Amino acid sequence: SHSQSDQFCDAGIGYSESTCGISSSKLLIKGGTVVNAHHQQIADVYVEDGIIVAVQPNIKVPDDVTLLDAAGKYVMPGDENRKGGIDPHTHLAMEFMGTETIDDYFSGQAAALAGGTTMHIDFVIPVNGSLVAGFEAYKKKAKKSCMDYGFHMAITKWDESVSREMEIMVKEKGINSFKFFMAYKGSLMINDELLLQGFERCKSLGALAMVHAENGDAVFEGQKRMIELGITGPEGHALSRPAVLEGEATARAIRLAKFVNTPLYVVHVMSIDAMDEIAKARKSDFLTGITFFMLQGRRYVMSPPIREAGHDKALQAALSTGVLQLVGTDHCVFNSTQKAFGIDDFRKIPNGVNGIEERMHLVWDTMVESGQISVSGYVRITSTECARIFNIYPRKGAILAGSDADIIIFNPNSSFEISASSHHSRTDTNVYEGRKGKGKVEVTIVGGRVVWKDDELRVVPGSGKYIDMPPFSYLFNGIDKADAMYRTSLKAPVKRFKSKS
Ligand code: URP
Ligand code: ZN
Ligand code: ZN
Ligand code: ZN
Repeated sequence: SHSQSDQFCDAGIGYSESTCGISSSKLLIKGGTVVNAHHQQIADVYVEDGIIVAVQPNIKVPDDVTLLDAAGKYVMPGDENRKGGIDPHTHLAMEFMGTETIDDYFSGQAAALAGGTTMHIDFVIPVNGSLVAGFEAYKKKAKKSCMDYGFHMAITKWDESVSREMEIMVKEKGINSFKFFMAYKGSLMINDELLLQGFERCKSLGALAMVHAENGDAVFEGQKRMIELGITGPEGHALSRPAVLEGEATARAIRLAKFVNTPLYVVHVMSIDAMDEIAKARKSDFLTGITFFMLQGRRYVMSPPIREAGHDKALQAALSTGVLQLVGTDHCVFNSTQKAFGIDDFRKIPNGVNGIEERMHLVWDTMVESGQISVSGYVRITSTECARIFNIYPRKGAILAGSDADIIIFNPNSSFEISASSHHSRTDTNVYEGRKGKGKVEVTIVGGRVVWKDDELRVVPGSGKYIDMPPFSYLFNGIDKADAMYRTSLKAPVKRFKSKS
């Protein structure tokens, strides 16, 4: 019901007309280099009613299509194997440290789309310890979604009902991962006993255990030490929780997961200390999934903290060699007013920084432009690996004629510059302020609709879908067999002993 020009009506952020957005049913993306994780080719991409119909050179189409010229640019489609850029770690509309993140499911996702990310996985926080209540609350928050999303679930306490509800989450609600906090003493933190019980439960359900790996007791002592020394400003944050505490908790989580024999995903790896532990574990074929950050910022408080120079280069190298597998952002933003809650005491600064909009650009510039990873590798670490780990690769029931048209047109010869004055998040600062680089997401298409083009955003609240994530991803392959061998090895010496008597 919109004219051609109104299809690009000035929706912007906060627009709430659910029929808006470009909805031409036919799109042809001409002459781009189509990139997948395993191959690339120059081809046209033809989309009808939100579904990719064909990917091949010189497609002949009817006249009434919307044409997008992609010559000299990369086209990164969401085919049956992936869904555009996927951010595996975000916090939208999360209540945390006495306040709530300022990006909700609409503004955070709009920012994501402007940066070429077309799906994200957010963390549900239980309500009064109830996972079911937490799930319902987040489904409500996500009603205004303008792109597809999935959920992880945080486990913040342990009892019979939590254990029961984990099963409901996995079997009925499409959640296949649970995050355990080894930090945030007094709020989200759980002890080793609960961590072990949680790991066991994850294993039996085929769900992936995730950890926030910092030693929360030691961080608490470190904070007291800083306060006693009179260091109450934001610099006290990183000083109170050094890399050694991240290394310790990462090593402990890895060993406990090994004891239980269940796969482990270490989120937000921020230090060489943690990365070395992961490298060791992966060498012995132990399975570890990873989220890793770009370490450009210096000014804002998040946990684990942004480390001193040196850690960043080492983490990039680990990403290029496959020790670390994917890149998430932990997008979790508070504005200056909220950050100022901790003006006299760094312990009260709400933890978190932005990244959902910046990720695709920063990873391109830091990893591809610098020659540390190939273009296919880029697709792998920003999307495909995430889809595999969270078991949406290939999509259930995607053996149909086509798949969702979530597509990015990326111009490697253009450039980007990051600033709070031009970003789409609601926050008034940007941890990457002033960062420039090569490459630019010029067009984002989601569900067959052009939502980002010519630096303008036309998003549709309510158009995003919840993506169910089934249990028992490839990370669980071989677990049964290893358990059986372990049991056999326990029985063997007993038998020998008996036969002698
Ligand atoms: O500082 C951070 N990372 N805030 C978000 C919560 C978390 O630990 O992921
Ligand atoms: Zn309109
Ligand atoms: Zn965390
Ligand atoms: Zn987080």
